Amino acid sequence: VSGKDSVRFDRAIPGASALLESLRGVGYSPWTAIADLVDNSIASQAKRIWIEFLWRGAESSVRIIDDGFGMSEVALVSAMRPGSRSPRDRRSPGDLGRFGLGLKTASLSQCRVLTVSSRVSAAEAAIRRWDLDHVASIDDWQLLVGPPADREDEASIPADLESGTVVLWTRLDRLVGDAGVGDVEARRRFFETARHVENHLAMTHHRFLAGSHPRIELYVGTSPAMRVKPWDPFMQNHPATIRTPPERISLGAAQVEVQGFVLPHRDQLTTEELEEGAGPEGWLAHEGFFVYRADRLVVYGGWLGLGSPRRWARDELHRLARIRVDLANSDDDEWKIDIRKSIAIPPQGIRDRLRGLAERVREESRQILAHRGGRGARAAAEPLVRAWKAIESPRGVSYRIDRSHPAVRRVLEAQRVDAAWVDQMLQVIEATVPVQRIWMDAAEQAEIRGAGRDSEADPVILAALRSLYTHLVRDLGVDSQEAKQKLRQVEPFNVYPDEIDALSEQEIQK
Ligand SMILES: Nc1ncnc2c1ncn2[C@@H]1O[C@H](COP(=O)(O)OP(=O)(O)OP(=O)(O)O)[C@@H](O)[C@H]1O
Ligand SMILES: [Mg+2]
Repeated sequence: VSGKDSVRFDRAIPGASALLESLRGVGYSPWTAIADLVDNSIASQAKRIWIEFLWRGAESSVRIIDDGFGMSEVALVSAMRPGSRSPRDRRSPGDLGRFGLGLKTASLSQCRVLTVSSRVSAAEAAIRRWDLDHVASIDDWQLLVGPPADREDEASIPADLESGTVVLWTRLDRLVGDAGVGDVEARRRFFETARHVENHLAMTHHRFLAGSHPRIELYVGTSPAMRVKPWDPFMQNHPATIRTPPERISLGAAQVEVQGFVLPHRDQLTTEELEEGAGPEGWLAHEGFFVYRADRLVVYGGWLGLGSPRRWARDELHRLARIRVDLANSDDDEWKIDIRKSIAIPPQGIRDRLRGLAERVREESRQILAHRGGRGARAAAEPLVRAWKAIESPRGVSYRIDRSHPAVRRVLEAQRVDAAWVDQMLQVIEATVPVQRIWMDAAEQAEIRGAGRDSEADPVILAALRSLYTHLVRDLGVDSQEAKQKLRQVEPFNVYPDEIDALSEQEIQK
């Protein structure tokens, strides 16, 4: 025990080998580990990122190259330190890091030698490496200088980059082990992992890859490298996808944005679209919540422990339901984001709102699956006669009763109308209100709505207004002012007060 005065302490320095070996067990997969390194590249403002899998049996390597701003020698040594930054540091809004661990932990979970080479200009690169076997042999925090023997080429940053970083993984004990170069099965697994990495990144970073001017270009492969195409979990380009209006939920100072999606039934998808919609882990795995942290997808399915009375599990009935949730990187504490950034737990204050939205979207998924693609969407031999028609115009969608529906036509064409027929017609109409369709259209028009009500009066409604006014005044002998007063309180005439004022007895239809 040492120390003066009141502060007495022991120095408790972590055992180098024990700690580094334990950190390997945090639970990364090759693809979540690489996604973490891509986060680092993005934070360094890289525009292009290459991920290369080089097969050489036990000597195989994986490397991640970026054209970001790189690190000076001092910065590199600091970056290689486990716990290089505190999670309590405030980060800039686009920074995908948090714990100061990812580079080391993610990498060393997959390999025993991590080499990082970086340069901030055309000058020589700084190179440092962690070698777990070296650390074990001396049990000290010795960060080695330079690349492993015979690996200079792989550690070098392409000459055409102004600045950038190479992260090189060698001695891939978990990915390859001591397989020989000719081990066909091991080689197949190695490249299968590469494909999985590609699919995974297409998902986790899809927002960075999407659009006509994507924020990054990402390549995964050997040579020639394959450009990764984004995967949109919500099939937003498919016309049959249903969406709820985007909602903002405030929680203290933080704001969360949420939106629900119901993907199309398989009957409405081509084989390719069906395959596409399944995503890297399949329809069932990807039902539920998709949580983004600063645009990077961290949770890609599951119901976040919500549901009552019992927590919802993933099941077939809800496989079309996907809900987008957007967080800022300042919300980490509230959401208990973990070191791998693969877990997010919604704070108590918004669980009810999230559950409410999820209930609606889940219900919609059940409906669509029960009706095989929605009411009448199945290609039946005879087309379904529907009571309602949705009519689309530039002003939006309106819903009309189809006059050719038998229950309606009977009333319209009758010489003498039977009250029972009218009642039956109304029952048909009431039973078939296209709630789902209206809900989905309203969601799509969320932005348009509020831009101001049409000022133009609907001539059909005005005609009905005049006809009713005439009926009241002429046939029932109601006083003109009183008739107007009544009509002002009747839907849909209540939104036409000026037109009602303008009604006059002279106008009464003969
Ligand atoms: N490709 C890169 N280009 C430039 N700097 C990098 C790169 N990768 C890492 N760094 C620097 O190294 C530091 C440590 O990275 P590391 O991934 O270990 O932690 P972090 O990103 O800060 O937090 P987290 O543990 O949440 O990922 C980063 O903060 C960054 O400054
Ligand atoms: Mg990081």
